Amino acid sequence: MKSEHIKAVQQSWALLEPVGNQAAELFYTNLFARNPGMRMLFTEDLSVQGPALMRMFDSAVASLGRPDELLPMLQALGQRHRDYGVTPAHFDAYGEALLSTLAQGLGTAFTPEVGEAWRVVFGDVRGVMLGVQTDVH
Ligand code: HEM
Repeated sequence: MKSEHIKAVQQSWALLEPVGNQAAELFYTNLFARNPGMRMLFTEDLSVQGPALMRMFDSAVASLGRPDELLPMLQALGQRHRDYGVTPAHFDAYGEALLSTLAQGLGTAFTPEVGEAWRVVFGDVRGVMLGVQTDVH
């Protein structure tokens, strides 16, 4: 990821912050509408899970550009996700639901550049969480 991707992701994330928990609900709605089979992986109440997800996004987005902070956080998160039974294919569905949620939540602020920046950043995050990538820039 490049510094312009980091900037676009951080700026657009800041716009969603005030509506964070609604964004999380919308995200799960998008994810399960398209992938009903993925619902059973989640055992935790989504009203607990949603805020946990938003906190993790807050930390990860704030740590972009600081690999010494970001890498261990994502590697540990990735290890937990392997234990939850999450596979590489799940990440594709998750990334699509994330991009849809950003488009719905950001409206006109979801420019093509912002979409591309999230795609690149999510791709790197996915790589580290799956253990197939050992660096983030
Ligand atoms: C950017 C990618 C992702 C982030 C930031 C993320 C974040 C989180 C966080 C913060 C938790 C709370 C527990 C913990 O910290 O271990 C969690 C749990 C979980 N995540 Fe993710 N996740 C990501 C990708 C995925 C994917 C691709 C799936 C596939 C379905 C998934 C499924 C789950 C499940 C099943 C749980 C366990 C919660 C439960 O038992 O209800 N996550 N995730």
